[in-house]
Amino acid sequence: MKRTILITGGAGFIGCHVVRRFVGKYPEYIIVNADKLTYAGNLENLTEIENKKNYKFEKTDIVDKQSVVELFDKYNFDGVIHLAAESHVDRSIASPDEFVFTNIIGTVNLLNAALNRWKNDFEEKLFYHISTDEVYGSLGKEGLFTEETAYDPKSPYSASKASSDHMVRAYNHTFGVPALISNCSNNYGPNQFPEKLIPLAINNIKNNKPIPVYGKGENIRDWLFVEDHASAIDLIFHRGKAGETYNIGGNNEWKNIDLIILLCRIMDKKLNRAKGTSEKLITYVKDRPGHDLRYAIDSSKLQKELGWSPIPEFADGLEKTVDWYLTNTKWLDRVLSGDYNKYYDQMYSGR
Ligand code: NAD
Ligand code: TYD
Repeated sequence: MKRTILITGGAGFIGCHVVRRFVGKYPEYIIVNADKLTYAGNLENLTEIENKKNYKFEKTDIVDKQSVVELFDKYNFDGVIHLAAESHVDRSIASPDEFVFTNIIGTVNLLNAALNRWKNDFEEKLFYHISTDEVYGSLGKEGLFTEETAYDPKSPYSASKASSDHMVRAYNHTFGVPALISNCSNNYGPNQFPEKLIPLAINNIKNNKPIPVYGKGENIRDWLFVEDHASAIDLIFHRGKAGETYNIGGNNEWKNIDLIILLCRIMDKKLNRAKGTSEKLITYVKDRPGHDLRYAIDSSKLQKELGWSPIPEFADGLEKTVDWYLTNTKWLDRVLSGDYNKYYDQMYSGR
């Protein structure tokens, strides 16, 4: 079946894995990647598919209503997979406004455009909103987030994502927009911007710099390999039911400090350092304000209803990730120096 699908935020970490998967696996689809290319968007993540016939890039700011309307007029999408967002909790604490603009207003602009284009015929249309488990707030030592857990976001990031989830559900309920949501736990893997814990730690260990561990390192996250998230998105996009929510998680809870120690051991091996060398870089720093203690997802609905399951063991996924960062040194250097921003001008000026 032919489809024209808008993927927003396709130059970011998770988005690039989703775009590559869809462009490669579904040559009959046209995949339009709309991305503003903020500091987190990097077209170098997409070089392997950028010349494919079924791929198009549009530099679009989803906060700009008119640009979003023009995009929908140009392509007549029948599906949307919406990943574009400001995504880093620490940045949302330092400067929340951009999170309100992109995550809330940007999502509403997309919903309005989809509603206006689709309202006479919702058949075969789908608006798929990608969200986070952080909307559920923080768990104590016990329990898991299910699709029924009440929303209780605690950071400006999670509050903005929760808001956007509510708007997606409201457009589904009130206007009939065929929409669904998935809420995923922490992702890790290749192409993640080195401000997030795992790539930041890999880079610091490589350069013999302190590894900043917030508070006592006792916060717990449920880590999922990014390609497993992309496979879940593929499955949910094709087989999920409009109006539903699906939780996605790795069933893989780690205390931050235990994760860092495992990473240090892998790095010692990869860098031929004596056992214990990298652990000496661990440095406890001031905690993040309002730091959520624990996230953990119950993904049994997705597993039972759609037959999804994650693939690599954490140690294997982490090793793959370390290998990627140690091999792709140019990518990392260019991201750290800001040079990747120039790629757009080189590739797209005059197009
Ligand atoms: P990311 O920060 O790596 O990438 C975000 C992308 O969105 C970038 O390419 C950026 O340029 C683009 N973008 C930002 N503002 C935009 C705007 N106004 N208009 C158009 N494009 C814009 O984020 P990520 O980690 O890949 O996360 C993708 C989505 O998945 C987000 O919605 C996030 O909330 C969600 N999510 C992330 C995780 C995780 O662990 N990273 C977990 C669960 C859910
Ligand atoms: P992060 O990768 O920012 O994801 P999130 O806050 O969305 O879960 O952080 C993961 C965990 O690691 C979180 O508990 C905060 C902690 N952390 C550190 O201890 N040090 C760091 O330098 C960073 C970036 C995060």
